[in-house]
Amino acid sequence: MNFIKKHKKLFAVLLVLALIWGGAFIWTLTIMPNRYEGEPLPEASEGEVRLTCEEGATPYLAKYSADDEMLEVPFKLITVSDSHLIDESGDIFFEKLAILLDRSKPDLVVLLGDLILSGKEDVQNKLAAFFEEREQYWSFVPGNHDGQEYEGEEDRYEQHRWWYGTMTGSPYCISFDEGGDEVNGFGNCAVNIRTPKGISQTLFFIDNSLNSESGHAIDISQVEWYEKRVGEIATENGGELVPSVVFMHRPLEEYQYAWDLVPKGEAELVYGDCIEEIEYGGGSLMFEKAKELGSTHTFICGHEHKNDTRIIYGGINLIYTQGLHFETYGRSTAMKWKLIYAINKNCNWFTEGGTEFVFTPDGEYQIAPRYIPLDYFFYTR
Ligand SMILES: [Fe+2]
Repeated sequence: MNFIKKHKKLFAVLLVLALIWGGAFIWTLTIMPNRYEGEPLPEASEGEVRLTCEEGATPYLAKYSADDEMLEVPFKLITVSDSHLIDESGDIFFEKLAILLDRSKPDLVVLLGDLILSGKEDVQNKLAAFFEEREQYWSFVPGNHDGQEYEGEEDRYEQHRWWYGTMTGSPYCISFDEGGDEVNGFGNCAVNIRTPKGISQTLFFIDNSLNSESGHAIDISQVEWYEKRVGEIATENGGELVPSVVFMHRPLEEYQYAWDLVPKGEAELVYGDCIEEIEYGGGSLMFEKAKELGSTHTFICGHEHKNDTRIIYGGINLIYTQGLHFETYGRSTAMKWKLIYAINKNCNWFTEGGTEFVFTPDGEYQIAPRYIPLDYFFYTR
């Protein structure tokens, strides 16, 4: 007792700290919102997806009936990212991806980078074989870690060249390199979605995995290529501007501005949280160009495994995809959230999964996160 009397100031401070900590813990257990489940999106539409490449025109994906008629139906895609595969241990990733695709039944899967860290071609082949077996169209953009362990080549840009070369070319992979050496990066390309009504969307795939020599996160040559292609695709569409999505690995610097403006009410947080630092690497003119042209309604990236926001800023969606981070760090690997979940199953911070898009033939779109079912979180790792 004497000891407490002697140090009563210290004990008072400790008591206040304990009350604050306890209060925060109880708050977390009781009123913290559940993860966002999203509005229900339409089920996968009927028809078979096909890719058509005609000389001098933008390649397009469309859905067809059994008697070869192009269908006027919605098109569904799902994005995932950051699998960080190294070797055969990627079984967890493939297992979770299969669960996600069985539920979503997308027409296209878009992988948003940091997929395969090792320089091992057989892991890359395994990825292609997974999609071939499912007869599933897929595409990808490079991430900053992709190919980094490729031996015999120290230059990161050349490592990416090797990595991109081994990733592309399988029958269900729609990624290709449109710009060649004149456009910075690998696998920059545009693919349209078509219905009998015309082009409903353009999908732009942009490599922003490494800063260019000019220091830009997206090089001027890529922004110029994007502007040119937006114009050309509008011409292909009878002069009418086509709505588009830009897929990339790293966030734009505008993700940071948007996040900072949410509390002031100057940007709208639709869902999610930014738990990690927003690492955009450098600036670019991409966002300003997109605003000027008025085609792109959405940018979506991976890279930060614990960020999963959709923010509307300047009329454009800036989104972090849900990802499949089971081989690396993610929210599902953090002990504190596992503990909170074990105490109260309503407190669910786990965001691993994918982000779904549905495009209608009229050019409208819907977006919602989709999660790996909780039953599947804990029996591995
Ligand atoms: Fe990354």
